[in-house]
Amino acid sequence: MKHEKKYDIIIIGGLGHVGLPLGIAFANKGLKVCLYDIDKKKAERVLAGEMPFIEYGAEPVLKKVIGKELTISLNLKDLANANYIIVAIGTPVDEYLSPKLRGFFNLFEKFMQYLDSSQTIIIRSTVYPRVCEQMEKFLLKKGLSINIAYCPERIIQGYSIKELNELPQIVAGLNSESEKKAVELFSVLSPKVIPVKMGEAELIKLFANAWRYISFAVSNQFYMIATMHGENYDSIRKALMDGYGRAASIPGAGFTAGPCLLKDTMQLASFTSNTFQLGHAAMMVNEGLPDFIVSQLRYSHDLSKATVGILGMAFKADIDDTRDSLSFRLKKTLSFHNANVICSDYMVNDPTFVTTEQLVADSDIIIIGVPHSAYKGLPFPSNKVIIDLWGVTKATDVIP
Ligand SMILES: NC(=O)c1ccc[n+]([C@@H]2O[C@H](COP(=O)([O-])OP(=O)(O)OC[C@H]3O[C@@H](n4cnc5c(N)ncnc54)[C@H](O)[C@@H]3O)[C@@H](O)[C@H]2O)c1
Repeated sequence: MKHEKKYDIIIIGGLGHVGLPLGIAFANKGLKVCLYDIDKKKAERVLAGEMPFIEYGAEPVLKKVIGKELTISLNLKDLANANYIIVAIGTPVDEYLSPKLRGFFNLFEKFMQYLDSSQTIIIRSTVYPRVCEQMEKFLLKKGLSINIAYCPERIIQGYSIKELNELPQIVAGLNSESEKKAVELFSVLSPKVIPVKMGEAELIKLFANAWRYISFAVSNQFYMIATMHGENYDSIRKALMDGYGRAASIPGAGFTAGPCLLKDTMQLASFTSNTFQLGHAAMMVNEGLPDFIVSQLRYSHDLSKATVGILGMAFKADIDDTRDSLSFRLKKTLSFHNANVICSDYMVNDPTFVTTEQLVADSDIIIIGVPHSAYKGLPFPSNKVIIDLWGVTKATDVIP
């Protein structure tokens, strides 16, 4: 790769869950990478070789490349110094579950004075279909003609250092030059690059997340049906799958949360003028699971006299990220019914949380919020009511 500018790549949002591992991975391949971000505290930690969140296998590589191939900038002007501008900032939905596009475009208005037509913009954030085309028109109107490509991130959070080197990369350019530049860049990292049309790439990313979100909803609905009939869903699922390949992909039940799956399913719903019935149905099932647990518990318990412990507050197993975690929704619903709620998560640094041991000792009812490794096979005193959707502990998931 030619080094026409000081950096091969600058990543906007370079200290985030997508930007940082990607920057580390490219730097580890010998590319000159600059991480541009606005978060000073994270910048200090990363400069000291410390990962600000859990990404397995990332820290040793970070320590190897920081200050050499990998640098950090809090100065927008550095955008001028890179051949590739990778955009990895958050793309949330608003209170109507529609994508917040204005913020994204406003940012580009701020960035564009530092960009020139020799550069290539790679959109890595998950975007609403047609955003890349609109971006091109927006920049053209303001006098900047620049290559734009969309190369969606498909890693699973926590495991990106491994997956970035293993997953094929979907690539789309708005013209052949943009596609060529994006293919050239990702060929350094990915074992396979799959060029597709822009509209296809945008839908591939949203379909990938909606597919996962809906498949989890199927299992969560089955869980609710089994539980309403007093049956143990985990043992039903295991027996159903046993030697029966056609059902091998049924996931386990559990809270389906985090900053991506629901958001991207709703982006797709918004794109289809809210005719994506399966997506909306999945949202109602997945988001309704904490309420289902509470309503089942209320049949048999006076929650106002109970201490309920939620074990696991991260949005998924073995990470420290609580963004959009359904354990917090569960906490809110339990508190609404006047339960005394205590929370614990050994992966998350929160001074209000108690230890696993204290939670087990103090709770009448224990709900497993997330199946962290340390909870697997965890025994509980027989006088406790245990709700374990995931089937990871030695308890039953039937609500008595
Ligand atoms: N987290 C995942 O596993 C994952 C996977 C695939 C795709 N995505 C998509 O990637 C995108 C980023 O997600 P994330 O989880 O990394 O978000 P994040 O919040 O972890 O990271 C965003 C980063 O952008 C920085 N930032 C915000 N505004 C900025 C600005 N004006 N200038 C510079 N930096 C700015 C923040 O400080 C933060 O470090 C989203 O579109 C998301 O849907 C995420």
